Amino acid sequence: MAGQTKPGGLGRIFLRKSVEQMHAEHEQGELKKTLGAWNLILLGIGCIIGTGIFVLTGRAAAEFAGPGIMISFVITGTLCALVALAYAELAAAIPVSGSAYSYSYASMGEIVAWVMGLLLVLEYGLAASTVAVGWSGYVVSFLADYGIHIPAALQAAPGVPVTDHDTGAVIGTGMVNLPALIAIGAVTMLLTLGVSESASVNNVIVFIKVGVVIAFIVIGASHVDPALWSPLIPEQIPAPAPGTDMAIGAQITRALGGVLTGADTGQYGVPGLITGAATIFFAYIGFEAVSTAGAESKNPSRDMPIGILGSLIICTILYILTCAVLVGIVPYALLDNPAPIAMAVDRMGLPWFATVVKIGAIAGLSSVMLVLLYGQTRIFYTMARDGLIPQVFANVHSKFKTPWVNTILVGLLASGFAGFMGLDDLADLTNVGTLAAFAIICITVIYLRFARPNMKRPFNMPMPVMLVVSVLGALMCIFLLMSLMAHDKTRNFFLIYLAGGFVLYFVYGLQNSKLAKGLTVGGHEAKPMELPHKGD
Ligand code: ALA
Repeated sequence: MAGQTKPGGLGRIFLRKSVEQMHAEHEQGELKKTLGAWNLILLGIGCIIGTGIFVLTGRAAAEFAGPGIMISFVITGTLCALVALAYAELAAAIPVSGSAYSYSYASMGEIVAWVMGLLLVLEYGLAASTVAVGWSGYVVSFLADYGIHIPAALQAAPGVPVTDHDTGAVIGTGMVNLPALIAIGAVTMLLTLGVSESASVNNVIVFIKVGVVIAFIVIGASHVDPALWSPLIPEQIPAPAPGTDMAIGAQITRALGGVLTGADTGQYGVPGLITGAATIFFAYIGFEAVSTAGAESKNPSRDMPIGILGSLIICTILYILTCAVLVGIVPYALLDNPAPIAMAVDRMGLPWFATVVKIGAIAGLSSVMLVLLYGQTRIFYTMARDGLIPQVFANVHSKFKTPWVNTILVGLLASGFAGFMGLDDLADLTNVGTLAAFAIICITVIYLRFARPNMKRPFNMPMPVMLVVSVLGALMCIFLLMSLMAHDKTRNFFLIYLAGGFVLYFVYGLQNSKLAKGLTVGGHEAKPMELPHKGD
């Protein structure tokens, strides 16, 4: 620390890590560097295609957007493309395991990095729980096809109504979502055993999943009735006034697990497209998970942008086609169903294909959980190396070379949420956290361009393009975020969570930050970055 002046008091919360320091830490990291460009694309697809398209699309079409759900997917796809460009620039320039957390640390300082860490727990940890709940729905339905019935109390979180697989009648209320809990446990075990093994499993699963989605599009295309696409954007229906019979009826139907449409809750029209876009945003989460693998990538400056943009483009095309087929086979008003894709396949009258789709969904959702939990552990790993959370999260197993204690703790936390929270709440919270993180990423790109104009950027947007992309990306994120924060439950949980996070930072992180103390991180001296300098 010779020659360094540590800022005292509150100035410490804006300490920055230098990009060079991050590179040095990357070189000295203990994680194996095994992933190439294709592995990264498959890692991205493995994380993207999941509960969003297999489960949430139905509700978004039935309640909010109608056949216009296709347009909602285009809106969200555009937003994600903007954010992906921002991610690509940062991931190529700063290829480290902490992803967005690390980018914030290198730009706007420790306190913003901490907030980012909090948001990423929602984006990865909570998202894994959300996917586990979607996975559970498909497993329960698949087992029921073969006469194996899981008791209602073990199928869903406390208080969530459980409906019969065939008749749709309510058969009980959940106490714990046992399949979801078990799923997270299994994925945690796999991750504890090692990343390259997990990557091979992931690759096989991605091929199965993409195969099923393409088969659905190709086989389904011949069953599409184009009349069902019209009107593309059904007329807007105002929300029933609170306290009216209509509003109370919709609440009761929702509580009983019944089918809702925009006629009950009020939507369609352009506002419905927007709410639909915010809801199915979950379907796109995952392209940025590629960036969490920076420390395990062989050639990050070339392969990170390929992985991020490649996986997003492939999935966007598949999503829009899947939606077109879905709403072309099932009238949108009937789609509020936990397995809408399976429902469309049933209508095709091909029972064998229904089984294939369910197996594909089950396998596919497993890979999403795998990548999300992987991302979460790598973020905690990096935060622990920085001293912001306890060191135990950075302990690497001598044989498996994985952060094993970290992985097990993350697994326990995620399985708790999966077992005891309902799908809609989990998805909304994940969306809110992720949209906030994406907005910060867009702002970070702009900030670094001005603060460190000469930093080496292997993936470099021309300045005017970068400004348009990042400003538009941030604004779109904030717009969708606000539409989700209109729900009291989501808003309150999010704000309380952030407040708790701040308390933790001041009680623990600030006191133990290695950067603030000038301690070594991975054998490299941790030192505050000098204030923005232009000649680096
Ligand atoms: N995009 C992922 C999914 O839909 C998280 O499951």
